[in-house]
Amino acid sequence: MCGIVAYIGKKEAYPIIIKGLQRLEYRGYDSAGVAILNGDLDVYKKKGKVKELEDFLQDKELKGTMGMGHTRWATHGEPNDINAHPHFSSTNKHAIIHNGIIENYASLKTELESKGYEFKSETDSEVFITFIEYIQEANACPLEEAVRLALNEVVGAYAIVVISREFPNQMIAARKGSPLVIGVGDEEFFFASDATPIVEYTNRVVYMNDFEIASIKDGKLNIKNAEDVEKNPTIHEIEMALESIEKGGFDHFMLKEIFEQPKSIRDSLRGRLKLDTGTVALGGIREYFNKFVQADRIIILGCGTSWHAGLVAEYLFEEFARIPVEVEYASEFRYRNPVIKEGDVVIAISQSGETADTLAAMELAKQKGAIIFGVCNVVGSSIARLTHEGAYTHAGPEIGVASTKAFTTQITVLTLMAMMVAKAKGTVKQRTFQEILADLESIPGKITRVLENDGYIQKLAAQFKDSRNFLYLGRGYNFPVALEGALKLKEISYIHAEGYPAAEMKHGPIALIDEEMPVVFIATRDSSYEKILSNIQEVKARKGIVIAIVTEGDQEIKKIADHTIEVPHVHEALMPIVSVVPLQLLSYHIAVLRGTNVDQPRNLAKSVTVE
Ligand code: G6P
Repeated sequence: MCGIVAYIGKKEAYPIIIKGLQRLEYRGYDSAGVAILNGDLDVYKKKGKVKELEDFLQDKELKGTMGMGHTRWATHGEPNDINAHPHFSSTNKHAIIHNGIIENYASLKTELESKGYEFKSETDSEVFITFIEYIQEANACPLEEAVRLALNEVVGAYAIVVISREFPNQMIAARKGSPLVIGVGDEEFFFASDATPIVEYTNRVVYMNDFEIASIKDGKLNIKNAEDVEKNPTIHEIEMALESIEKGGFDHFMLKEIFEQPKSIRDSLRGRLKLDTGTVALGGIREYFNKFVQADRIIILGCGTSWHAGLVAEYLFEEFARIPVEVEYASEFRYRNPVIKEGDVVIAISQSGETADTLAAMELAKQKGAIIFGVCNVVGSSIARLTHEGAYTHAGPEIGVASTKAFTTQITVLTLMAMMVAKAKGTVKQRTFQEILADLESIPGKITRVLENDGYIQKLAAQFKDSRNFLYLGRGYNFPVALEGALKLKEISYIHAEGYPAAEMKHGPIALIDEEMPVVFIATRDSSYEKILSNIQEVKARKGIVIAIVTEGDQEIKKIADHTIEVPHVHEALMPIVSVVPLQLLSYHIAVLRGTNVDQPRNLAKSVTVE
């Protein structure tokens, strides 16, 4: 949440910053602002999207080779021009951009007010920079030292960049809990919440660690920790093609990402699945693999769509590896004093690798001695770095706020993990193992076939765009798909939708069914087919409108459902990867027809770095 970007070098800073903000806008879009240092320190900020800021700045002189920008997801104070970042310190000497939350800001504010400081905004960030100013003046110390001392006093999470008209050749940044990447170019440096604003200029990055403070002065980068000890930055070379962060002819990132799924799944499988030898190998899981095989229990942690992928993994690990699994909302787990025993293994799932609750839950599990495996998309992210071992999904950057390709690649990787463990334990029959491997390899081609139904799904969307409620029902492996289908619809179209296990319908949701209520059944041919058929009959008996996702060639459901969308057959354990695709498209088209902002739905952010 909140995107930050900063530049110091020889080029004009503003064009780099505004473009960077556009790339980071998925992280929050309540307001945006920039600060440019050129003798003076100018700050411009506006409520609304980066585009509004850009239009507002069109006729302004924004010259300077050092500056920073922020796109906000509001925490403290409503989204308006005043609460937008950057924030000046009380005397307008220093300015800050901040992603995170300062939990003790109220007491700091009271203390500063008692010393005569005044505040313009309601934000914790303005308190933060004024506190830095206060420390700097009280100690008559360099700005960098003032930042370090201030950080030792604040409680909370932050990624910050600070610039100052009094220290014009220097840019200071620090992180704890919120992500921050340094781009190292040729006589130029960048700071950003992720690498997307940087890759156009350099592929050399340093991932900052918690409690580190970076200073760029006179063209040199120095990093130290909170105890003032210098650290040697490790430079990583990243691979991120520029096309992967652009829309490439699609109207929205979400649609592009839905259509990218055959490729992203192929990338997830590449080099990991060998059909001829019947082997699965995840290079990132070696040293602790035995812990996995010997696990008494698996605890899966995640939030949102990643939590749904975890539910699919529960079915996979229990059925094939015969290990009991608990899937936990990270936000609940972390505050529950959970029981973690020797022999427990944790899998943390996260697209961004930065979700604050997931990170905190992992830290807790780690403290209690659990071995943690990660399934992340963003390389070098905080969650990826906190795990003992893991596997990247290789989905490529996901920019649409509603997660699509991250979900299907997470399940792909989790399937590989489950199969690897099951094979080592000898709990899966060789025939089943081979069948699953073969079907996994066929999935990209099968998703391409589902995507060919896009035109039909778009027409269907037109019929349901004004519905006020939706119910999504599925059983077995398709139950998490029902949850994910409902989540996709509410996130981007703002239509109320609920996902349920189909059999639970009679314990409540059935009361909602009437001739106005669309009920989406994920009813592919699997071991619970007959049962879900009965559930469809129950809905039809109450005049509900049934939209069913069925296996190609299904005739029975076609006779009773109002609408059917066919998907190719795959082993039922893999069906979520296929059956979710029409639901992604249905939500997408309904949202487009309703005129909502598909890629940046209201109130949401892609990377939730606050709890
Ligand atoms: C936010 C996003 C969701 C995502 C969830 C977890 O709510 O909008 O799309 O599923 O966070 O994020 P993670 O990056 O940990 O998968």
